[in-house]
Amino acid sequence: MKDKIRVGIIGCGGIAGAHAENYLNCERAEIAALCDLVPGKAAAFAERKGVAGANIYASYDEMFEREELDAVSVCTYNQAHADPTIAALRRGVCVLLEKPIAASVEDALRIIRAEKESSAFVSVGFQPRYDPDMQKIKEICQSGELGDIYYIQTGGGRRRGLPTAESFVRRDQAGVGAMGDIGCYSLDMVLNAIGYPKPLTVTGYASDFFGRDPRYKFSGSFNVEDFAAAFIRLEGGIVLDFRISWAMHPDTPGDTIIFGKKGALRIPSTDCWNAGVGGDMTLYYDDENGEPTEKKIPAAPDHGKEDCFACKVRAFVEAVRAGGPAPVPSREAFINEAIVNAILDSAEKGGEIVVDLPEV
Ligand SMILES: NC(=O)c1ccc[n+]([C@@H]2O[C@H](COP(=O)([O-])OP(=O)(O)OC[C@H]3O[C@@H](n4cnc5c(N)ncnc54)[C@H](O)[C@@H]3O)[C@@H](O)[C@H]2O)c1
Repeated sequence: MKDKIRVGIIGCGGIAGAHAENYLNCERAEIAALCDLVPGKAAAFAERKGVAGANIYASYDEMFEREELDAVSVCTYNQAHADPTIAALRRGVCVLLEKPIAASVEDALRIIRAEKESSAFVSVGFQPRYDPDMQKIKEICQSGELGDIYYIQTGGGRRRGLPTAESFVRRDQAGVGAMGDIGCYSLDMVLNAIGYPKPLTVTGYASDFFGRDPRYKFSGSFNVEDFAAAFIRLEGGIVLDFRISWAMHPDTPGDTIIFGKKGALRIPSTDCWNAGVGGDMTLYYDDENGEPTEKKIPAAPDHGKEDCFACKVRAFVEAVRAGGPAPVPSREAFINEAIVNAILDSAEKGGEIVVDLPEV
């Protein structure tokens, strides 16, 4: 096992800062290279973040040619996830890929096919998985306490939370809107808890009323969804009722509730992408006399997005040193992406979509 791994960061925008800070705090990793296609951006990032000694590149191909790297963080916008990830995998370099895995099922497939042919792995950046409340939700679902799960309603959103960066709202850069930014986390919260069954059919709806309002500063270039909802049938007879919003009039589109044949779990409306749940959870079940009863599952003390992010980077570094497996496997992120894309396809078509995922 390597004592210290050599890491590169591709894409030196907003979220790359959190990657850099956590690599700098990790004695098992050194940042050897930084890359951004915008001239001067990687150098300015190195200066601002105190990344001393890293070599600076405007092209990741050149970076891979010149550097001996063990791993990279891919922090480019969604439409630019696949190519640098595949370039890394072809050179046996492991990838911590920011979420969502890609902006299309085709790109996600290209990534997992390249991973299959590579000695390296891809881990996808869902840091809320390191949150104790998210882990508790998974523990409850996997324990059998709820019995067979048959219906889940989930989602969340911001009342007025359109992005402050334009790269999130232009289809040519983001590919998807609220679903790719925050919806993928809501899906991951429940799908990870129940073991990521495959989607079978999706009926979706998407709208953009707030993003196109001239009062929003990027309304002129806004061409993704700011709200989406869907009814998703999953393998195993499970139905997932989902909604996500960057902007809406109500304060929440509702709690998450997981219905099982023996019990149910209510998770108060949560911005799960920032880690944590919106308050104590409730477990509903029948007592020994068959009477409906309930108990509180106290929310964990605030763990925070920063802590989860630190755990995500540390877990990745340790997995690279150990030669795998990926902490957050690409197959799960691929299913997540397939649902997001099917929602958009269904919304455009105005009818149900049959999801037929190829085996990889
Ligand atoms: N995990 C989280 O909490 C979290 C938070 C925010 C964003 N994200 C994700 O991180 C990704 C980036 O988001 P951001 O806010 O940092 O975006 P950003 O637009 O601020 O930064 C993206 C950077 O990538 C660079 N880039 C694009 N294509 C490139 C290429 N081919 N080679 C080199 N550089 C390239 C751009 O020039 C830009 O500097 C998105 O996928 C987003 O969904 C994750």
